[in-house]
Amino acid sequence: MTSVNLRGETRVLHVAWADGTSADFPYLWLRDNCPSGFHPQTHERQFDLTSIPTNLGIEKAEVDGEAILIKWDQEDHQSRFDPDWLKAHLPGSGLSDPANVPPTLWRGDCAPSTLPRISASKLMNDDGALLDFLIATKKTGLAIVDGMADDRDAGMTAAKRIGFLRETNFGVTFEVRSMPNPNNLAYTSHALPLHTDLANQELPPGFQFLHCLANDAEGGGSTFCDGFAIAEDLRQNDPEAFDLLSQTPVPFRFHDDNYDIRRHQTVIDLDAFGNLQELHFNAHLAGVFDLPAEKMEAYYRAYRKIMAMTRSDDYVITTRLEGGEMVIFDNRRVLHGRAAFDPNTGYRHLRGCYVDRGEFDSKIRVLSR
Ligand code: OGA
Ligand code: ZN
Repeated sequence: MTSVNLRGETRVLHVAWADGTSADFPYLWLRDNCPSGFHPQTHERQFDLTSIPTNLGIEKAEVDGEAILIKWDQEDHQSRFDPDWLKAHLPGSGLSDPANVPPTLWRGDCAPSTLPRISASKLMNDDGALLDFLIATKKTGLAIVDGMADDRDAGMTAAKRIGFLRETNFGVTFEVRSMPNPNNLAYTSHALPLHTDLANQELPPGFQFLHCLANDAEGGGSTFCDGFAIAEDLRQNDPEAFDLLSQTPVPFRFHDDNYDIRRHQTVIDLDAFGNLQELHFNAHLAGVFDLPAEKMEAYYRAYRKIMAMTRSDDYVITTRLEGGEMVIFDNRRVLHGRAAFDPNTGYRHLRGCYVDRGEFDSKIRVLSR
C-alpha cells in the first residue's frame, strides 16, 4: 500500500511504496510534471512553468484508489499521479533508457568471429533479431551483416531500416574504390591507418555502414580498434597524456574544390560526467596544430603515444571483408583502416553511408516498446 506524507518544511512530498522504496518529490517538480500539463496525443509538455508562483505549496495530498491526489494551494488545481510512474522517475536516479547500453571494451585479442553478426534478411524482416543486434552493436561498437544482396543500394536500404542517413560533403552514400582524381585518400589504393571519419565536421557522423561489393584485389584487408579501450588504458597508464588529449582542442580540416570544412576537436571527448563520449582521430585530416609554442612538445608526446597505441597488436584486430558482407561501426568510438591493395589484381569496391547515434538509439527505443 502506497503512503504519502507532506514534508512542508523541505517542500517535498514523501512517498513510500509497499516494496520498501521511498522518495522525496519536490513540489515544483510535481507541479511541472502534472499529467494534465501534457498534450494527450503528442505527450509534449504544454504547462507554462511561469504561470505558478515558485512558493506554490500543497494543501492536501492523499492516496485515492490507485492514484496519488494532490490539491495545490494558491491555485485551483488538482494533480493525479500514478504511483508506478512516480517510482519510475525518482529524482536523482537518472531516467531509464533502453538505449543506454554501456560499451563493452575490447582489445587486440578480440576474435573477429565473436563480433555481433546478423544476416541481411533478419535485419530487414525480424524486429526482435534487429533489436538484439542493435544492442549488441552498441556494446562492441563494431558488427557485421552478412548475406547482403549484390546490389549497390543494399547497404543503404539496410541502414535506412535503422534510421535516416546522414548526408555529408561526400554525399548520402559514398563509393570507396580506387578512382582517378581522388579528393580523399580512401578513394585511392593506399593503406589507410586507423582513423575516425570526418573529424573535421562539427559533429562527425555516428554509425558507419560499409557494404563490401567486391574485395578481389590483393591486399585491402580491414583493421579496427576500440578507441574507448585505448583511451581508458591511457587514462590509467598515462594520465598526463590523457588529460592533454581530452583538454586540448586541435584543428581538423577537409578541403577540396567545393568545400573547406574545419573544426577544432579534442582527440578524446568526455561528457559532463568524465565518461568517454567520442574520439576524433584522423591523421590525414589533422590540421596544422596551432597551440602555443611552449605547449607543442608535450602535446606531440601525448598525440604520438595514442597514435602508437592505434598501431599496436594490443589493440588492433584484422579481418577481411568478403563481397556480400557489411561492417557497421560507431565512427566516434571504433577506429577503422585498411591495408593497401593492388587494383591491377582485382576489383575492390565498398559503398558507405552513415546513420547518426541519435537515430540508432531511437530505433532501439522504439523496438523495445
Ligand atoms: C573510408 C575508409 C576503408 C576501406 O572510406 O573512410 O576508411 O576498407 N575505407 O576502404
Ligand atoms: Zn574511413
